[in-house]
Amino acid sequence: MKHFQVENSAEAERGYLVGIALKQGRPLLSIDDSLAELALLAETAGIDVVGKTRQHIRQINPKTLIGSGKLREILDDVALCEAAVVIFDEELSPRHQRELEKQLGESVRLLDRSALILDIFAQHARTSEGALQVELAQYEYRLPRLTRQWTHLARQAGGGGARGGSGGVGLRGPGETQLEADRREITRKITKLKSDLEHVRAHRHLHRQRRQNSGLPLVALVGYTNAGKSTLINALTDADVYAADQLFATLDPTTRRLKLPDRRELLISDTVGFIQKLPTTLIAAFHATLEEVTEADLLLHVVDVSHPNAAQHIEAVEDTLAEIDASGMPRILALNKADRLTGPLPSFALVDMYQDTVAISASEGQGLGELMSSMRAALDMQMTSLEVVIPYQTGQVYSDLYDKGYIQSEQADDAGWRLTLRLPESHRGSYSRFAV
Ligand code: GTP
Repeated sequence: MKHFQVENSAEAERGYLVGIALKQGRPLLSIDDSLAELALLAETAGIDVVGKTRQHIRQINPKTLIGSGKLREILDDVALCEAAVVIFDEELSPRHQRELEKQLGESVRLLDRSALILDIFAQHARTSEGALQVELAQYEYRLPRLTRQWTHLARQAGGGGARGGSGGVGLRGPGETQLEADRREITRKITKLKSDLEHVRAHRHLHRQRRQNSGLPLVALVGYTNAGKSTLINALTDADVYAADQLFATLDPTTRRLKLPDRRELLISDTVGFIQKLPTTLIAAFHATLEEVTEADLLLHVVDVSHPNAAQHIEAVEDTLAEIDASGMPRILALNKADRLTGPLPSFALVDMYQDTVAISASEGQGLGELMSSMRAALDMQMTSLEVVIPYQTGQVYSDLYDKGYIQSEQADDAGWRLTLRLPESHRGSYSRFAV
């Protein structure tokens, strides 16, 4: 996914950002860093940021979240810079959303961070499962917030994205009867989406079985959005694109086959990019996809080491991994974009949780050999020793073992090839009939 792409600014909606720091809780990023991230998200969604403000909230206003003085200031600013959309850097409660919409009036659209992220995911969903999951998350997010923006949602959900603004859409607040009808309609859509997802997942299950039958270890890439995961997967697998396209094109569009320098092969798969304050409905809807991370043999966590908030990005990814019970999995950390560093590599408090840390540059192709060795070593630690005799007439098995295992010795005798090797535990069963 390429999140940080600005669309044609000639058509961009004018956006005004509101940074919020609540007294309770321990935010991962400072109010300004989080606001800067929100600006990138807004640009990604095709919104032109024309103004912003920030507020530390000591006492939450039960109606409007922010105090009345700050709200007046925002209304003035929004009018002055002719913003068409106001974006809060926090998930707004349904009540806050309703009251703030009332205050902003019908010509200004209100979004919060969650709605913005959901819109971006909708724009970038690549697979039918991804699109269904985002649509489900959007409807579940919107259901308790149903007001005049429903019409906006009806146009946007399922791939429309944040663009479009409020112009021309029925802005008048629907009467209660209309609201009830809309609620029923959304609930019906949610039920339908859940059943569609069941179907897609049954299909996906078949793909997963094919992958397991392939007998290759799986490395799952995780990382903060924009860390360079897609660039890395391309850099690593370019040399083997042909095999990847031929053999795994239908397995999953984000899973590729990678041949290590010692000839051993593995599968490497990309996942959704993580970000701090990921909407809860999105995590819930993507749970099945995220859970696949836990089926991998190894996690490869990619972090943009040149980013000033790299430590916080690592922590945000770790938090999401904990939510899907993946904290205990073996993993290595790739410190990407090392080409941008001018000084020494920074150190991070959380590196102790990783089996290895490797500095790389995915775009410049630096450190990739070391990264592959590190992956191999981490996978080797999960391997089992085996001695087999492969009859000469089963040459394919002999060749498979060279691809899947790490051959320690080979001898040719009357019965066939006698091999001692290390093999992923999960593949032992396939070759037990040759074991001696
Ligand atoms: P999401 O899809 O948002 O999760 O992003 P991603 O992690 O897949 O990142 P992606 O590969 O799209 O890279 C993000 C940006 O970083 C792109 O502009 C890349 O060209 C750039 N990039 C990736 N790796 C490197 C690197 O090693 N060095 C430098 N300087 N830039 C890089």
